[in-house]
Amino acid sequence: MDKQEILRLLISEPWEELRLRADAERQAAKGGHVFCRGLIEFSSICRRNCAYCGLRAQNAKAHRYRLKAEAILEAATESVAHGADSIVLQSGEGACDAMWLAEVVKEISDTLRVPVTLSVGERNERDYELWKDAGAARYLLRHESADTELYAKLHPGYALKDRLRCLSILKSLGYETGGGFIVGLPGQTMDILAEDIALCVHLKLDMAGIGPFIAQTDTPLAGATSGSIDLCLRALAILRIAMPNANLPATTALATLDPKMGQIRGLMAGANVLMPNFTPREYGSAYSIYDKKKRVDICCAARDIEFAGRSHSLKM
Ligand code: 5AD
Ligand code: SF4
Repeated sequence: MDKQEILRLLISEPWEELRLRADAERQAAKGGHVFCRGLIEFSSICRRNCAYCGLRAQNAKAHRYRLKAEAILEAATESVAHGADSIVLQSGEGACDAMWLAEVVKEISDTLRVPVTLSVGERNERDYELWKDAGAARYLLRHESADTELYAKLHPGYALKDRLRCLSILKSLGYETGGGFIVGLPGQTMDILAEDIALCVHLKLDMAGIGPFIAQTDTPLAGATSGSIDLCLRALAILRIAMPNANLPATTALATLDPKMGQIRGLMAGANVLMPNFTPREYGSAYSIYDKKKRVDICCAARDIEFAGRSHSLKM
């Protein structure tokens, strides 16, 4: 699918036709089962200063925490007991020591025997290799924005090419690799959004997570208009059509902007994954990447999947 076709689908394809096409692709390639990843946000510490994110290093108001290995293992055990099929360990960038995380990964994969996904940002090849050897099977690293200039503006001190290099290292190490981007970032044009979609396709990602931009009060983008849910769903549907076999989540950002229907609409527009949150409750609210972030717990995940007429293996 080329950029012109992506733009056409984004702008002028009637929505219900686009959605039905994506839904049929999802059914044919992935079936009706919705995979549930247990998300553990194990540290809110971050060295970066992404302009949109509440965990940016310069935000002195952010509450910083790092869970102990035992607390992570406990949360992972609870996730699996409740039917999560894999564990996602997420944190800000540079939040932890590589050896420490390798041990946590090893402990989870040895004792719980589920795939472990890491989402801890840009690190060097040695760290990625260490974690792979410890048993991490998957890695999530969204490219965030495919436009070199917009990327540089929103990520002071960082460059898109370095992020793409990390993605290529992760793939070469044999990780199942996930990417993605934010829809409706201030400065994103329709053309850039089409580039974002095209880049995911070009990278041949195994997974792609996308969500609408939501402003966070203590960031330079406080007060900026949120991304459009409708546009985000369009982008999701196009990703499904262009990458039929990819695992595509209906994200927490969709659930935050539309708590009742956001994830259901995602599941009906091509998504086949949810990521219910298993971060211990006392820390969950500190992981404030954007305002009023909804906690998608297993009950709400199960309810949304059932409402969408699909199956899951969650246990309440
Ligand atoms: N709005 C939407 N998504 C955001 N993220 C971070 N801050 C925001 C925001 N304000 C996304 C980034 C990151 C993921 C964990 O959350 O894409 O990769
Ligand atoms: Fe840090 Fe990720 Fe937030 Fe950027 S988006 S400031 S890397 S936690």
